[in-house]
Amino acid sequence: MIRRRSFLVLTVLSAAAALSAGACRQPAQELALARDAMASGSGMVVSAYPEASRAGAEVLRAGGNAVDAAIATGFALAVTHPAAGNIGGGGFMVIRFPDGSATALDFREKAPLRAHPEMFLDEDGEYSYQIHHRSHLAVGVPGTVAGFALAHEKYGTAEWSDLVEPSVGLARDGFVVSERLARSLAGRLEAFRSYPASFAQFSKDGEPYAAGETLVQADLAGTLARIRDEGRDGFYKGTTARLVAEEMERGGGWITEEDMARYEAREREPVRGSYRGYEVISMPPPSSGGTALVQMLNVLEGFDVAAMGAGSPEYAHHLIEAMRRAFRDRAMFLADPDFEDIPVARLTSKEYADEIRATIEAGAASASSTTDVTAPAEWESSETTHYSVVDAEGMAVSVTYTLEGGYGSYITVPGAGFLLNNEMGDFNGRPGLTSENGLIGTQANLARPEKRMLSSMTPTIVARDGELVAVIGSPGGRTIINTVLQLVVNLVDFGGDPASVVAAKRLHHQWLPNAVRMEEGFMSEADAALLGAMGHEVGWGRGQGIAHCIFVDSATGELVGVPDPRDSDGAAAGY
Ligand code: GLY
Repeated sequence: MIRRRSFLVLTVLSAAAALSAGACRQPAQELALARDAMASGSGMVVSAYPEASRAGAEVLRAGGNAVDAAIATGFALAVTHPAAGNIGGGGFMVIRFPDGSATALDFREKAPLRAHPEMFLDEDGEYSYQIHHRSHLAVGVPGTVAGFALAHEKYGTAEWSDLVEPSVGLARDGFVVSERLARSLAGRLEAFRSYPASFAQFSKDGEPYAAGETLVQADLAGTLARIRDEGRDGFYKGTTARLVAEEMERGGGWITEEDMARYEAREREPVRGSYRGYEVISMPPPSSGGTALVQMLNVLEGFDVAAMGAGSPEYAHHLIEAMRRAFRDRAMFLADPDFEDIPVARLTSKEYADEIRATIEAGAASASSTTDVTAPAEWESSETTHYSVVDAEGMAVSVTYTLEGGYGSYITVPGAGFLLNNEMGDFNGRPGLTSENGLIGTQANLARPEKRMLSSMTPTIVARDGELVAVIGSPGGRTIINTVLQLVVNLVDFGGDPASVVAAKRLHHQWLPNAVRMEEGFMSEADAALLGAMGHEVGWGRGQGIAHCIFVDSATGELVGVPDPRDSDGAAAGY
């Protein structure tokens, strides 16, 4: 059942906007924005902030394609969702064309030219979390603007300036701060205090913004205007690049104007897999997401998951065991393919899944051993953002991009008004360090000049019999892969309407630490005790992921946008 929680009408809706199966159905050409699942006949954008969804949907309505809309939405999120929307970070875009072909764009940040594997050690040679995650050395060369420029050059149809302009207006004239954003900014005020440009931009004369107030970002408007007028050179050369390099020099960072000028986004072959007749198209390395997703789906395909039942201890056990093995392989093999040979074909093969399945024992948890490999133990930040776009022709775009931590490094570039990422923290911190509750030191993902750090982002598109089925993805660090996995399983094995596919509770296991974290309600306490009796360390955690997705109703062909109910700011915009 698709529900309508709130419905913000942008144009006057006629009484003919009757709902089928509870979904709002909009008259053609009228743009509507909804906080909850919404059906639409033509084009749809679902993202983490209403103005950003609207910016993209307006592009669709004006005749732009899904790539154009994804670019406009991404720039608008850089203004309205500063925790993760960005021009100072990076990410991935998976595109499926109406003829069923697909491509993937990689605009992951790169290490600067001076980078080396020991760069996160302090002067005593000890690993430093501070340097790795919370310093100017934690900043990677940003990729988002180059990624959007590449997407536009290869697949866009609208004028570039028309796609950047909405974000210029949102930054220059301001936008209304939501309750969630007000809370989020207030929570980071102390962290911003260390960086005067951040404190000035994200506080109101030193006081937190209240919900309902207007946030203006004049320096950001200036940078976006340069990008609007000069394309990628407005970011990677001239004033913006100089301002980045100056801030790096002030704070002991290594990114230079040369690093900025050399940055290139890459087009890559998507990872493809199948699951019970559904086609899965996702992000290849340097994300681990698509590879691990397909590996886990292949393993689960050999079990009768539907018969086990959603939320059953038996299902959870098999899910966890598939996750344990995929995350071990992630730590061993996955990294930047421009630097390392990665056995993606083997990891995503049905034969390898058969071998893995044979090692899973019904009713008994296996161990997570660190004897042959090191692994990351800490839970990752959930501050990334995902958005989904489908246009009237059926072109689908799935984008996940990030600053890494919420508000990245907390460093706003003075005079340029955008936050820099702390993505270097996604490289392994110290070569060779093995620790069950410590760090990863595997060779493949060590920092090197111009290398991209490993990611978990998993922008994904699902199709069947040549038809688009869903555009999915999520933030959540390493939990992203498991969130997307469960979206696919919910859709294929457990059925239900799109809203319940997204709302269903999720769990996470990442090999190390050897612990299961479940959202409240995934299963009953009694079933959790049964799962524990199998040998799993079961715990309850906060919300997992924010999956802003679009589904195609197979009966009507309509698009159903589903903002994840875990995010009160998420919104679908369609016409
Ligand atoms: N920084 C989160 C990720 O790339 O997966």
